[in-house]
Amino acid sequence: QCGIAVESRIDCGRDRSLSRADCEGRGCCYVPLPQSGLGGPPWCFYPVRYPGYKMGPLLPTEKGKRATLARSEPSYLPRDIPTLQLDVMPETLGRLHLSLKDPASPRYEVPFVTSQLRGHKDIQNPLYDVDFQPDPFGFIVRRKSNGRVLLNTTIGPLLFADQYLQLSTSMASSVISGLGEHYTPITLDLNWSSVSLWNRDMASANLYGSHPFFLVQEGDGQAHGVFLLNSNAMEVFLQPAPALTWVTVGGILDFYIFLGPSPQSVVQQYHEVIGYPMMPSYWSLGFHLCRWGYTSTNITRTVVQLMRQAKIPLDVQWNDLDYADQRRVFTFDPQRFGDLPQMVEEFHQLGMKYVLILDPGISSASPPGSYKPFDDGLKRGVFIKNSTGQILIGKVWPGPTAFPDFTNPTTQDWWMDCIRVFHSKVPVDGLWIDMNEPSNFVQGSVDGCPDSDLEKPPYTPGVIGGQLNSGTLCVSAQQYLSNHYNLHNLYGLTEAIATHRALLKVKSTRPFVLSRSSFPGLGRFSAHWTGDVRSDWEQLRFSIPGVLLFGLYGIPLVGADVCGFGGDTTEELCVRWTQLGAFYPFMRNHNDRPNAVRYQSTSSQTASIAVTGREVSSQMASIAVTGRVESSQTASIAVTGKGQYILFPAPLDTINIHVREGSIIPQQLPALTTTASRRNPFTLIVALSVGNWAKGELFWDDGESLDTFEHGHYSYVLFFAQEVQNRVNFVKLNGSLDGLVLGEVRVFGVQASPTAVWANGQKVHDFSYSPDTKVCNKCLCFILIFKMC
Ligand code: NOJ
Repeated sequence: QCGIAVESRIDCGRDRSLSRADCEGRGCCYVPLPQSGLGGPPWCFYPVRYPGYKMGPLLPTEKGKRATLARSEPSYLPRDIPTLQLDVMPETLGRLHLSLKDPASPRYEVPFVTSQLRGHKDIQNPLYDVDFQPDPFGFIVRRKSNGRVLLNTTIGPLLFADQYLQLSTSMASSVISGLGEHYTPITLDLNWSSVSLWNRDMASANLYGSHPFFLVQEGDGQAHGVFLLNSNAMEVFLQPAPALTWVTVGGILDFYIFLGPSPQSVVQQYHEVIGYPMMPSYWSLGFHLCRWGYTSTNITRTVVQLMRQAKIPLDVQWNDLDYADQRRVFTFDPQRFGDLPQMVEEFHQLGMKYVLILDPGISSASPPGSYKPFDDGLKRGVFIKNSTGQILIGKVWPGPTAFPDFTNPTTQDWWMDCIRVFHSKVPVDGLWIDMNEPSNFVQGSVDGCPDSDLEKPPYTPGVIGGQLNSGTLCVSAQQYLSNHYNLHNLYGLTEAIATHRALLKVKSTRPFVLSRSSFPGLGRFSAHWTGDVRSDWEQLRFSIPGVLLFGLYGIPLVGADVCGFGGDTTEELCVRWTQLGAFYPFMRNHNDRPNAVRYQSTSSQTASIAVTGREVSSQMASIAVTGRVESSQTASIAVTGKGQYILFPAPLDTINIHVREGSIIPQQLPALTTTASRRNPFTLIVALSVGNWAKGELFWDDGESLDTFEHGHYSYVLFFAQEVQNRVNFVKLNGSLDGLVLGEVRVFGVQASPTAVWANGQKVHDFSYSPDTKVCNKCLCFILIFKMC
């Protein structure tokens, strides 16, 4: 019973450390190891077939099958749930849904996230098989095509108590990605590590977002994924077997298993459940510039002027909290930012956009009648209450603050009214919702938190500060849909939903919202940035998996603060970060205030501009590089090789761009804004494959109208290059392409000089070919007005 390989031991003492007597008292195996028990394999572990739930017969239901699980003896956990209902729901060929809940009394279940899910069909021949071990209960999911075991939960017990739910499973390989948000490499460390999911405003054990989803690469190109739809504080343990144990402190166990079989299809199947990402506005893909410390409209204006003088593209200028009167949102400082509305209009005249920050904490200390958002919110009952029903007061930037409860529909309406009124004065183009874990500078509330099982559950996942209410609200606080214990991880998501909805109503264009806190489903409403990263090389490196992983999580519009947020950057770091940032879907340079003394000493405007100028000049240096890269496209070199490592020179002023063979990439020359660059002619970069083909695509619409796809107001163009000719196929074409010109086609990897080039039936005379680089310029250089084809 206890003869289990060390790497496969499942810890029997996660809730507390156990002596031999305690361990054996639980019916577990106690086998000490030479090395310390801390952080490595457990000494106290479950024996094979540790007694647990016993499964009754599986009976058909409308959605699949159902069984009752019952345990004859309670587990060692307080408030154990003796009977469970298992539902097994094959929902699509590639998606299996499996849930475990208490049939006797309803428990909290995550709202919003899967509300978009379409109805279930009768599934014939799905990609998976499920088997059950009835006693003790466990299930095994296999890939039907090759019999591979993807999940096997019989390796450990199912535990289901009021505040402690646990399930272990074997893994099909050690290549596992996900379970964010964390600063980690793209694959997780299985060497007895754990990740905690509890949103927190700190670069620590638990970070800003929670994504209980992982993707497993099975080793033969196939992949599968698992999503546990649960928003309670969670810790996931990883061990070398390879195996994984979920522990969550509430809710139900609600699993979605995605069979792919390709990694891309796993991600697609996951997004089908949590909702596909929003269509971003085109301008949001441009360059954004922000800084905490643009202390007046004039300083902000000067930054924009300097950028434009230096011919640095800038789409979106931002302001951090500096704009707000006493740091209270929905106000602007009458002295330093008195002409904010005018400044925003000026930016709009330049074809630019403007975004500012909005924290959720609403100042509660202004004299009554002087701060409408709070007075109004109080009247309408929008704020989170403490466990005894008074408004919970915490502390954030403006001092004492109340926290809107975005799960309440009245709050959503009040928030929309606040945004509408503010927007009628300051016509912002988007909103940046920060501090929405939510962050609180005091633990729980200014009055502390009650001593209760919610605040101090029998088991607390490894979170920074040691308690669930560290750096946030008391978890016993009451919200409209449930308590904060259950809803905490949804705070940012619910604020993003409210903000998106408000912008949609007020602007009637694609809303731009940038949220720090995240949960599955956020991508339908918001972009994300990776928070307060340090200005150092390690964080630059981690930003790459960080950004890529948010693609898995369905929030593709994501980036890290270019050049880093905290600490002084260096010119070299900033240049490289800008080069990297050009490839982030969301590219914003943002950084922290210089220290207070420096700012206080800049009494004259000239002096403060000079300070600002230093910051801008480091960006100038870096962005000038981007400009040069455009021209250095000509500096291509022909390289052939397969399965080799090739080193390329990468001097500071060069970004090496590697184009995958077989792709066609439409490009436009940059301009100072994307409003202008959108009108430039297209160049097609054609990277021929060894087999002399390439393909690519272009979706084009006006970049900001709502539902252009649904209304058919877009064009979709497929490009094909074959050995003998390049072809452009219009899958769908309409007025959106009016006036767009295909300026040039550059074909890479042309092995021999073409004898002639034809475009639309006419001979092209001025094409050129370089045998050294194997690039054919103006090769197939038809100046084609899309509309005419
Ligand atoms: C924390 C955010 O992460 C940071 O980007 C911002 O500058 C500060 N809050 C101040 O608003």
